[in-house]
Amino acid sequence: MERMPGRHFLQIPGPTNTPLSILAAIARPTIDHRGPEFASLGLDVLKRIRSVFKTNGSVVIYPTSGTGAWEAALVNTLSPGDRILMFETGWFSTLWSKMAKALGMQPEIIEGDWRSGVAADEIERRLLEDKAHSFKAVAVVHNETSTGVTSDIAAVRRAIDNAKHPALLLVDTISSLASIDYRHDEWGVDVTVGGSQKGLMLPPGLGFHAISTKAIDASMRAKLPRSFLRWDEMLFANATGFFPYTPSTNLLQGLRVALDLLEEEGLENVFARHDRAARATRRAVEKWGFQIQCRNATEYSSSLTAVRLPEGYSADALRREVLERANMSLGNGLGPLADRVFRVGHLGDFNNASVLGTLAAIEMGLKARGVPYGDGALDAAIDAPSGSSSTMAQAAE
Ligand SMILES: Cc1ncc(COP(=O)(O)O)c(C=O)c1O
Repeated sequence: MERMPGRHFLQIPGPTNTPLSILAAIARPTIDHRGPEFASLGLDVLKRIRSVFKTNGSVVIYPTSGTGAWEAALVNTLSPGDRILMFETGWFSTLWSKMAKALGMQPEIIEGDWRSGVAADEIERRLLEDKAHSFKAVAVVHNETSTGVTSDIAAVRRAIDNAKHPALLLVDTISSLASIDYRHDEWGVDVTVGGSQKGLMLPPGLGFHAISTKAIDASMRAKLPRSFLRWDEMLFANATGFFPYTPSTNLLQGLRVALDLLEEEGLENVFARHDRAARATRRAVEKWGFQIQCRNATEYSSSLTAVRLPEGYSADALRREVLERANMSLGNGLGPLADRVFRVGHLGDFNNASVLGTLAAIEMGLKARGVPYGDGALDAAIDAPSGSSSTMAQAAE
């Protein structure tokens, strides 16, 4: 493909745009992973990443993508044949349940419509029925990246508590961490799974776990085979800032800067910025006259919006058009949503201009493809109220 002038707009829902200061940190010479400089880097990032998960407990960092961290959550806590209760929010919850099956567990996935979040009352009902406590874990996706639906994890915690069920709670925050409010400790989550390439603004390659003491206890009894992904050796080495094997030294150098950026902006301001971008995007979609894949307004995702094109129009053709005309990538529809939806990523490192530029480029693509759409989308986006009721224009003042 010919080089296109101007910067590429990476508006997929992860990987996200990486700030130059993070790229510069990653580009610094690789350091000795068994030397003193690394130990202070390791101790620093392992300590400071905790606040992103809102935990005082341990966080481990794997040199893997999110999928590796999914696997690590299962193999560290569970045993062959264990039942796991899951909820079909979309593509990623389905993939995680397939992985559990492949690893020899018995996932039971409560059917969903790919337009709604986890129904906590249904979780409670299933757990109440399980008098023998044969479910060893409940595993859900906080922000379903295929649909743009965010689930209420506090409600899932209440459901488990109401049923007085001892199952562990495992939560995937791969596309919500550092973008949407999330509270590992307060919500009593046992393993929170995260990834580097979305809200943390890093390239892909790091997987994270925040781990409760209950999960650590479970890991001592868990019987699934594991070696590379074991927590015990990792936690032992991490106590002095090291890793049991060669870590992703340069990505960890980038992580230190990502944490600086998040601390400087303030996590709550980061969430508000994401809320504002999501609201502006939804206002534009309403004006265009298209449906949002997420059915319930209380579950709208602040990190991405999945948009349904009218019947008879190809979302993939629109994405191609936008890429060719504006050098901008939009997310594709996954599984049954292929070619039906396009996904707009508004997470990580972005500002008002990125959001408005994204919406304008989509509109250019709609016009070029002859997709009928309503007027006034950009105005509506600019005037969209943020959480604190100021508009996009006022919020920047
Ligand atoms: C919610 C969610 N879970 C899991 C994954 C899988 O992560 P990875 O592609 O980094 O392996 C993704 C990837 O986009 C995701 O969005």
